[in-house]
Amino acid sequence: MTDRILIIDFGSQFTQLIARRVRESGVYSEIHPFNKITKQNIIDYNPKGIILSGGPASVTESDTPRIPREIFDMGLPILGICYGQQTMVDQLGGTVKSSKEREFGRSILNVTADCNLFKGIWTVGNEKQVWMSHGDRVEALPDGFKIVGTSENAPYAAIANDDKNFYAVQFHPEVIHTPDGSTLLKNFTHMIAGCGGNWTMAAFKEQEIAKVRAQVNDGRVLCGLSGGVDSSVVAVLLHEAIGKQLTCVFVDTGMMRLNEAKEVVSLFRDHYNIQLIHHDASDLFLDKLAGITDPETKRKIIGATFIDIFEEEATKIGGADFLAQGTLYPDVIESISFHGGPSVTIKSHHNVGGLPDRMNMKLVEPLRELFKDEVRRLGKELGLPKAFVGRHPFPGPGLAIRLPGDVTPTKVKILQLADAIYLDEIHKAGLYDEIWQAFAILLPVQTVGVMGDARTYDFVCALRAVTSTDGMTADYYHFNMEFLGRVTNRIINEVQGINRVVYDITSKPPGTIEWE
Ligand code: XMP
Repeated sequence: MTDRILIIDFGSQFTQLIARRVRESGVYSEIHPFNKITKQNIIDYNPKGIILSGGPASVTESDTPRIPREIFDMGLPILGICYGQQTMVDQLGGTVKSSKEREFGRSILNVTADCNLFKGIWTVGNEKQVWMSHGDRVEALPDGFKIVGTSENAPYAAIANDDKNFYAVQFHPEVIHTPDGSTLLKNFTHMIAGCGGNWTMAAFKEQEIAKVRAQVNDGRVLCGLSGGVDSSVVAVLLHEAIGKQLTCVFVDTGMMRLNEAKEVVSLFRDHYNIQLIHHDASDLFLDKLAGITDPETKRKIIGATFIDIFEEEATKIGGADFLAQGTLYPDVIESISFHGGPSVTIKSHHNVGGLPDRMNMKLVEPLRELFKDEVRRLGKELGLPKAFVGRHPFPGPGLAIRLPGDVTPTKVKILQLADAIYLDEIHKAGLYDEIWQAFAILLPVQTVGVMGDARTYDFVCALRAVTSTDGMTADYYHFNMEFLGRVTNRIINEVQGINRVVYDITSKPPGTIEWE
């Protein structure tokens, strides 16, 4: 088994970043909520070290999160971060107090002693930038610990017990504002916990293929293929694992980008030789959407129609035992997290969620342990073309939610052409990979223009491009004006039906990435 680190989550907004940093250093890690941790879980998971995350609670109050005390006696190296430091200190007999001097943001750490955590990066006397976010602070150390770093408002900013391999820091090494943070975490995972750093995508691929084979046995698997990164990677991985036991269903809603449906079919059916059912339901979707203007109603109609068609195709081939889905790690964490949870529904996302129950299928989810960028790396490992692996996210309801107002075949065509020009220029300018998502929107607004001495009364096209790391928050992309001018000229000259182009500079929040 590859060496692994266990991250115990106390609810910090940065816990996923800890997992990312650990994995970036070639060590497999999983996040488990503190209230699900028992000594037996840890024995079963068999980590080489444990990281305790930060969290919003205060150990100075009763009834706040703790892990079983016996975990500190298992002989495993432990690194506590922020709340993780405080709970470690409190549970091992030290003192934590609420402090009036809170620290948020950049802070300077004075290195006061050497320890294994700092090997190769920090030595006594160094002043290093770290990132803090705390109200409580340690006031007295448990036996066996020494102070190795202090900051203005945290006299115990970094502490160590080299004999037991216990380390704890008040600052957050997982955020980029602690510039040496990744190395510090690597010191913990590689040098202190002794992990080998051999968790590679090639190894992961082989491991998942073996897992899928063991799970599926000689069963049949159905996979909804959309042409997006996640479902494409799932399809190719499963094809490698179980070949003809896999059938992919591609429901063409007619709301795809220009030529996208053709590209998907040609890659998967012709190139990979995957059994692929291409159900072209463009007319049906357009019929059902005719006259509908409310965004949520559009989403619901598309989601329900999609599932009906998927089910119809599954029944035609005699059903299947398993449904393959591209569930990612952040989705898993969201659903098992002990705190928060999904709040108000801003938009109802469509997927094949209702199907497994309705059709009595078990789930195969080979990407459950991966972050989005890891899925892209796995895609590369599987030989998927760059155009698929690096593709911007595309919503299930497709262009229907980029056409505010009613959806008509003419509007879909106009939007596809404008969108293709925009993306073509982005590719030519070498900007595609810097942008999280870029697309055109066709507004239900007509304005007056003048072309070749004649009056026009055509639609307005909006352009959107955002940077983001996870789609949860986003900033608009700062194109230069020449670029926007060039795209605008091309769209107006080449696409009949558009005579005005605008650029959307709303961030998320308060806007969302899509317009509907
Ligand atoms: P919003 O518009 O909510 O979008 O800021 C965040 C991300 O989610 C994508 N999105 C969807 N993806 N089905 C999907 O699979 C959907 O119904 C859907 N709606 C939005 C959106 O493109 C962006 O990447």
